[in-house]
Amino acid sequence: MPGEDIISLIASHIESKDKSRLSIGVLSSGNGSNLQALIDFSTTKDSYFKVGSVISNTPGSLALQRAQNHGINYHLVDHRAFNERLAFENKLMSCLLEDDVQLVVLAGFMRVLSPSFLARFKNCVINLHPSLLPKHRGLNAIKQALIAKDERTGSTVHLVDDGLDTGPIIAQSSCPIFSDDDLASVTDRIKQLEHALLPSVVNKIARTVITKGVF
Ligand code: GRF
Repeated sequence: MPGEDIISLIASHIESKDKSRLSIGVLSSGNGSNLQALIDFSTTKDSYFKVGSVISNTPGSLALQRAQNHGINYHLVDHRAFNERLAFENKLMSCLLEDDVQLVVLAGFMRVLSPSFLARFKNCVINLHPSLLPKHRGLNAIKQALIAKDERTGSTVHLVDDGLDTGPIIAQSSCPIFSDDDLASVTDRIKQLEHALLPSVVNKIARTVITKGVF
């Protein structure tokens, strides 16, 4: 299915309470540079979305700090504090519902979400993955591309389904891998791509939701 059709599919599942900006929830386990790119874009006049909630499973993560700096609702939901995944995911769900977000963006969130969580947010969870999917799914995707001696790599935004990085692809950006590259240099190059790619995809989804029925 082409990316534009996936965007329409996602938008068809969402009703925005705020008629001018879609509220999104961002899940990040760490640094949150992509969260920052979303926050920065959301403050521009071109934005059809706002960041309404940030959740991290990592105590002290920069992602939480970034949310706090911008006055965004934020939650630490540490998976290690829960005996089972269901309880952890119930807490994630209650935070997202409390903050009333309509789209969930996984941006460096290092936990796999169960089918029951995804069923609750059916077709409303997207993920950012640092490879040109379907190549190099799962952990250490950039390292996988280096080991495979790929000449190009990049990043993918996809709809999340029950598999590991298997959901329909919404959009991709690519970049070269040079012979003198290492993990750090390729990671930096991919992040530059992602900081434009992710806000652009989220904004397209948000615009489609907000302008639904507007002629
Ligand atoms: C990104 O490269 C994303 O593709 C991957 O995790 C990284 C998160 O980076 N899933 P940051 O925390 O947003 O800086």
